[in-house]
Amino acid sequence: MKLTPITVISLGALLLTPARPSDVAGQGTVLSTPQSEARIQELLSRMTLEEKVGQLNQLSSGSLTGPARAVQDGDALIRTGMVGSLFNSVTSKETNFYQKKAIDGSRLHIPILFGLDVIHGFRTIFPIPLGLSASWDPALVEQTARLAAQETSRQGIRWTFSPMVDIARDPRWGRIAEGAGEDPYLGSAFARAYVRGYQGRRLDDPSSIVACAKHFVGYGAAEAGRDYNTTEISERTLRDVYLPPFHAAVQEGAGTIMSAFNSLNGVPSSANPLTLTTILRDEWKFQGFVDSDWTAIREIMLHGIADDEATAARKSFLAGVDMDMQSDVYLPYLAGLVRSGEVPMARVDDAVRRILRIKFALGLFEHPFVPEAPDSNPTEVPASRALALKAAEESFVLLENHPVGGAPLLPLAVSPGKQVAVIGPLADSPGDMLGPWAGQGVAGDAVTFKTALGARALHEGIRLQFAQGTDIAGSTTSGIEEAVKVALESDLVIMTLGESGHSSGEASARSRIDLPGAQEALLEAVVGTGKPVVLVLFSGRPLAIEWASSNVPAILMAWFPGLQAGPALVSTLFGDSSPVGRLTVSVPRYVGQVPIYYNHLNTGRPRVDPIGLGTTKADPYYVTGYIDEKNTALYPFGYGLGYTSFSYSAVAVDTDRLSAGQINEHGGQLTVSAVVRNSGEREGTETAQLYIRLRGTSVARPVRELKGFERVHLAPGESRRVEFKLGKEELSFWNLQMKQVVEPGSLYVWVAPDSSAGEPLKVEIAQ
Ligand code: NOJ
Repeated sequence: MKLTPITVISLGALLLTPARPSDVAGQGTVLSTPQSEARIQELLSRMTLEEKVGQLNQLSSGSLTGPARAVQDGDALIRTGMVGSLFNSVTSKETNFYQKKAIDGSRLHIPILFGLDVIHGFRTIFPIPLGLSASWDPALVEQTARLAAQETSRQGIRWTFSPMVDIARDPRWGRIAEGAGEDPYLGSAFARAYVRGYQGRRLDDPSSIVACAKHFVGYGAAEAGRDYNTTEISERTLRDVYLPPFHAAVQEGAGTIMSAFNSLNGVPSSANPLTLTTILRDEWKFQGFVDSDWTAIREIMLHGIADDEATAARKSFLAGVDMDMQSDVYLPYLAGLVRSGEVPMARVDDAVRRILRIKFALGLFEHPFVPEAPDSNPTEVPASRALALKAAEESFVLLENHPVGGAPLLPLAVSPGKQVAVIGPLADSPGDMLGPWAGQGVAGDAVTFKTALGARALHEGIRLQFAQGTDIAGSTTSGIEEAVKVALESDLVIMTLGESGHSSGEASARSRIDLPGAQEALLEAVVGTGKPVVLVLFSGRPLAIEWASSNVPAILMAWFPGLQAGPALVSTLFGDSSPVGRLTVSVPRYVGQVPIYYNHLNTGRPRVDPIGLGTTKADPYYVTGYIDEKNTALYPFGYGLGYTSFSYSAVAVDTDRLSAGQINEHGGQLTVSAVVRNSGEREGTETAQLYIRLRGTSVARPVRELKGFERVHLAPGESRRVEFKLGKEELSFWNLQMKQVVEPGSLYVWVAPDSSAGEPLKVEIAQ
């Protein structure tokens, strides 16, 4: 594409100047000012009831005709002000085309808000969100979201249906790929980072887009991991685990929230007054608007709480869903429901006010159109490729790295003339590298491992041989013999196995979470040759790789790395960059352990507590667990290796006694610190993690909870003290009386490399 110098400079600057730090709560985007509220009020006063309802209507641009729209075509709907938002228009030409109809054709000239699923990049595709979260680097994620906002807004699209901030504890659920994993603290840090990146410093900056935290709420807890399935979550767990990332997004100023498909404790989430009104509006003072998920309002009929469309419209609207995405029930029924007195006019005004608030905040009334971009492909901007490379490198998690011939297998040291075999179906599959929800991503933009390795091999005089072995579905074993032959002829084997890019994401639950089909047999046959094997795993979820974990010397979890997959893998495997990723989900040994997550409650059995408290002698039989498998994860939350090693020492607290009352009423903090040392021979980045456990409280608390993390880059032999603060936000929880308070009890703190490591220090929390 042709680039204007301005584009290059602004994207370059983006890489050099990370904005505010992302892992602390900021001021939040300003959504409303007295001036904008006055303008909204003035406009509202001129709107007819039908025009108000029109603002609550959202259609996919591909479907501007439909059952309830039979009498009017799309043009007429827009010209009569019956479309508040359109989504799935992807070019500036299209958005300007529709916008012109709204601005020139409608009585009040209210601009359309265009939305799109920009999940991990618009055209520049970054790693899937689960991979991005493995970076434990909210500032990096903020940069990726910023770049996505720049590319998206150029097309006149000022709204993304992202971030997905659903906590997910079940890798069978395909949408685990779209979120930041299992932890509410980390999930909240990433929720804030995405909102900052998308919304920028100001929403009326033309390169800012409004964020949408989704899916409200509990969607990730779908029973048995089956998408859209029922959820049962106690109010305490909802508030402690599932709500915090949404709350963080709202505090950061997220302009919109999407209501979910699932029913929560028997109430469909898209018609749930407790979550949509009591919590979101009354408690959190959310100022933006709630959009339904795609046809989610209509689906409450299928859930069984409405027998007709009008009732579905009434229930969702009164519960707090402001905009109807594609259900096509607000437009035909809401005005009638107001006239019959079943829906108060004040509720309509409230919903319209919220939607107009976002339109005014975006500056859409002043600038409804965008300059028509001659080319929608910005990926050749060097800065966007560079950021995609960095993001991919930071997403990789090194799971195993055992010595072969005296030294760890990775980073690779391959002398000229040696032969490397690349085996597996994912070495040269560009489309799969983009992963699910890669919207405007183009397979041709992705550089595969085969391409990138080919260039490196040529440069270094390494000989390469390739064998696919089997296809991604693992549907055939016929290529295994050839793969074994290629392996036997080589000095080293790199295997590229895993799932297809579309085996995760929406409606992509799996009942098995191991390597698909014959891939496992391929792996075992190749490892059986005795050649050193590096396994590169691609997937949108943790895979249960019990056999590989104890038989393959080096395993790198690559997720779906985006368009710079190949270069990032080559630079990591050859040691130009070191793996820094840490798991944000627990990896099970077998699917039967699911759900498995680190921050679970303890039980009464075994009768010895993990932090050393025992009541009676441990009994090996009557325990919460399996008779045929361990209870632990194969790889715990927070785990990941690098090319160097780190040691922790001098873990300290600044006081061994806190007062609950003091913290609840006046604030106050505990400082926890530790010294992290690079004890290896290469420079590297460690992610120091702070965990807590509370005991003696009115309700049982998890065995560990993440409450802080810090990435430190250290030269060999270098040490640094890391410091964390624990105050009301970190120490409080929803107690027996359902109050969020700090309670007296014992506090244990760990500063550790992952959720299973380290020794705790104890602090007394007095009254
Ligand atoms: C359904 C998905 O659940 C949601 O995440 C997405 O934003 C909408 N479709 C719109 O495409």
